[in-house]
Amino acid sequence: MSAVIKQMAAGIALHRVFDAFPSNVLFIPVLSLFIVSLWSFYSYILLQQIPGPFLAAFSNLPRVSWVLSNRAHDIHIDLHRKYGKLVRFGPNMVSVGDPAEIPTLYSFTGKFTKSDFYHVIVFYAKGKPVQTIFTTQDENMHRMLKRPIAGIYTMSNLMSFEPYVDTTISFFFAQLDKRFAQTGDICNLGTWLQMFAFDVMGELTFSKRLGFLERAEDVDGIMESIWHYFQKTTPVTQIPWVDRLWAKNPIFQRLKAVRMNPIAGFGLARIAERKSAPDTSDDKESSTNSRDFLSRFLEAQAKDKSIPPWALTAWTTSNIAAGSDTTAILLRTTITLTTN
Ligand code: HEM
Repeated sequence: MSAVIKQMAAGIALHRVFDAFPSNVLFIPVLSLFIVSLWSFYSYILLQQIPGPFLAAFSNLPRVSWVLSNRAHDIHIDLHRKYGKLVRFGPNMVSVGDPAEIPTLYSFTGKFTKSDFYHVIVFYAKGKPVQTIFTTQDENMHRMLKRPIAGIYTMSNLMSFEPYVDTTISFFFAQLDKRFAQTGDICNLGTWLQMFAFDVMGELTFSKRLGFLERAEDVDGIMESIWHYFQKTTPVTQIPWVDRLWAKNPIFQRLKAVRMNPIAGFGLARIAERKSAPDTSDDKESSTNSRDFLSRFLEAQAKDKSIPPWALTAWTTSNIAAGSDTTAILLRTTITLTTN
């Protein structure tokens, strides 16, 4: 008898759960909607005095769509023309179109520290994030990485690199003569200028051209991989928290074999070569010049034992990643504007 009563009681309890189920199901979406509305209203109020597209005050999705259109730069300029020097691009994002504000915004001691945008563009080597001067959000790490090598990038020092740019220029013209001027084949100058920029950075950093001009091809698919990397990454930079859920999610990082970034890989290989066979002679027969970036980075590291070993990878990777595509874009733009 008592067993039957217990069974009935259990049945009634179960019934109550089922009765309550529809309202529970509604509760979660209603609560979510409430939180989203509250958050949107709060975000809107926060920067409401700054003009901008209406939707941008509530969501970062407009920014994602601008980037996906490959016209973000044109859209940004149009928006500044329409709204003025300060434009609200997102709920918590303001674009500043006034060069006078650059020192305020880029001061690492100021209150505008680097946002999570930079976290998204950190890439991996051997399954570990490679922090660089460019990507680090940590001010102490930025200082630690920048101080020992800042002197190398002064104008007077950079001028001493000019002969090594000249050797690559000569090689570049020799290749254009051989492959196009003498054969009459059509040259894709945009691609060749990009290959030139990569080889120049290789020459300056490691005394070794990366081999683009020599082989007349995208060595190790570096250019293609950078292109794909940024195509995947740039929309995510506009909503950085998505990156923490997806690409930088520690569980996914463990599950998938993280492929070595070819630029970091090339840098690591050159560092290993140099350490195993240091070549410090400056004579013309030598394949290494003692004043290339890598030699100077090694000197900087030897002077200060507190610099971690991975700083070398950070410095060399920065040079190739930050210096190649940017230089290639400038060269292409210069040629395009002067020839049209
Ligand atoms: C025309 C060529 C170049 C352009 C247009 C350019 C543009 C820029 C810009 C806009 C930044 C600031 C980015 C930010 O903080 O969001 C930057 C930072 C940086 N660039 Fe360049 N760059 C060029 C060439 C180079 C070259 C040749 C190198 C290396 C040899 C280089 C290394 C770096 C590094 C290391 C940073 C980070 C500096 C820091 O955070 O303190 N760049 N560059």
